[in-house]
Amino acid sequence: MFLHDLLEYFDFKTWLLCLFLFILLIDIIRNKNPTNFPPGPWRPPFIGNVFTGVDHKTVDKLSKKYGDVFSVRWGSDKIVFISGYKMVKEALVTQLDSFADRPVIPLFDKLYKGRSVSLSNGYMWKSQRKFLISHLRYFGEARKDLELSIQQECLCLCDTFKEVKGPFNPQFYVYSAVSNIICAMMFGHRFDYHDEQFLNILRLDIEAIFLAGSTKAHLYNLFPRIFDYIPGEHQQMFSDYSQIIDFMKEEIKKHKQNWDPSDPRDYIDAYLVEMEKKKSDPQAGFRSDTLVFILMDMLEAGTETIASTIRWALLYLMKYPEMQRRLQAEIDRVIGQIRQPCLDDRPNMPYTEAVVHETQRIGNVVPLGFPKRASQDTTLGGYFIPKGTSVTTSLSSVLFDKNVWETPDTFNPGHFLDEHGHFCKRDAFMPFSAGRRVCLGEQLARMELFLFITSLLQRFTFSPAPGEELSLEGQLGFTNTPCPYRVCVTPR
Ligand code: HEM
Repeated sequence: MFLHDLLEYFDFKTWLLCLFLFILLIDIIRNKNPTNFPPGPWRPPFIGNVFTGVDHKTVDKLSKKYGDVFSVRWGSDKIVFISGYKMVKEALVTQLDSFADRPVIPLFDKLYKGRSVSLSNGYMWKSQRKFLISHLRYFGEARKDLELSIQQECLCLCDTFKEVKGPFNPQFYVYSAVSNIICAMMFGHRFDYHDEQFLNILRLDIEAIFLAGSTKAHLYNLFPRIFDYIPGEHQQMFSDYSQIIDFMKEEIKKHKQNWDPSDPRDYIDAYLVEMEKKKSDPQAGFRSDTLVFILMDMLEAGTETIASTIRWALLYLMKYPEMQRRLQAEIDRVIGQIRQPCLDDRPNMPYTEAVVHETQRIGNVVPLGFPKRASQDTTLGGYFIPKGTSVTTSLSSVLFDKNVWETPDTFNPGHFLDEHGHFCKRDAFMPFSAGRRVCLGEQLARMELFLFITSLLQRFTFSPAPGEELSLEGQLGFTNTPCPYRVCVTPR
């Protein structure tokens, strides 16, 4: 009787309004923050702060307003952002096990499905990471071969620079050279800088990494089921990655055809051996499909980051020619003009080391690191972060922390030199992140950066193309890379 009267009493619009209020109430209850959750901007119902940018500049602005630990809501997800050296160190180093997991990122999960090192968790992640680290050492860092292979690649790059006529954009040459180091480890061979198939893979990779930072890619992460059917940059990114995956599969197929388990030539061969050994341990994930995504990890993580850092170095050295001259003077004094730079020169070249470190600091190539997830209930900066919450540590805020760096916004190699001109390490130097998920290619990257930068500066003086203004603004995608520029190289 009561229900009947109610139906008679309300018209259609009132029913709609009631329905809306009901759904709103559910949304508020479901997305209510736990007590003492990090503060953040007002979160409109249903969508939250989807229109709040995801770049490090926006994160810096919000952290000034809400503090070093703040949160936003994206769709039904809550993300906690952690900024500043003190708080990032507390999260990644002091509370070592609190933020060691990766969240599911729909944009990458569509292809990776939790396979690889960078996106897996638990036992599989530990097994794959351990294997990759031991083989990076075996095929690389511990062997003189790697130094030799980087030195040879430095020669190829210098010879190519010498041949190019007039001002040119060094981007693809640098990418090819850096990528060849990883390719030699993975596939056992390098590619010619003019190999069209290889250049195409590099083009696709650069584009995909850039598109991963686009607005559509961000929206895909929030509403994957809807954006699966909407055209845009995210679809282009999927297509780019699919082509790179096919390229990797082809390399694996060729390796399987002439594989000799007793003589692993490279990472693929060694992985195939491990697949045989770990047949009885499927949870460790040693399968062909995982192998594809580990190769993707190495190519993705090991090319763009180092190549962009070298491009930042050339850019800053052209902008500050007096620093370029000082660096060259150190090269001439320690190495001279006859022999090639080698890793044993590093301890004798404090200024060069300082320039490389300062380039990594100000270049800020991975500004927000990779996303993480709270692996347990945690308290940070006095706030409660429940297990499962997505967390982003802003490496950018550490590399530019005003409480740590004397002149954070200026290119100043002096940040890494003491009063006697000796190189000094700085705790807040965290371009490779820190803690359980710290970059496992750090040693390789540091070898490459030193050898490539010294080799180039030993052979050439770099200056901007006549009449072209150099911009120090970064081009922001998933990484922070220099805008394309042209150089003139003068042999020394
Ligand atoms: C200048 C060069 C490089 C920079 C700035 C860099 C930076 C980073 C950063 C910030 C992370 C995220 C760490 C975290 O989640 O806290 C990372 C992870 C990773 N990096 Fe690098 N990286 C570089 C070179 C390399 C190279 C050469 C490799 C080659 C093997 C590599 C492989 C990886 C892998 C596999 C991960 C994922 C680690 C995991 O999730 O356990 N990186 N890197």
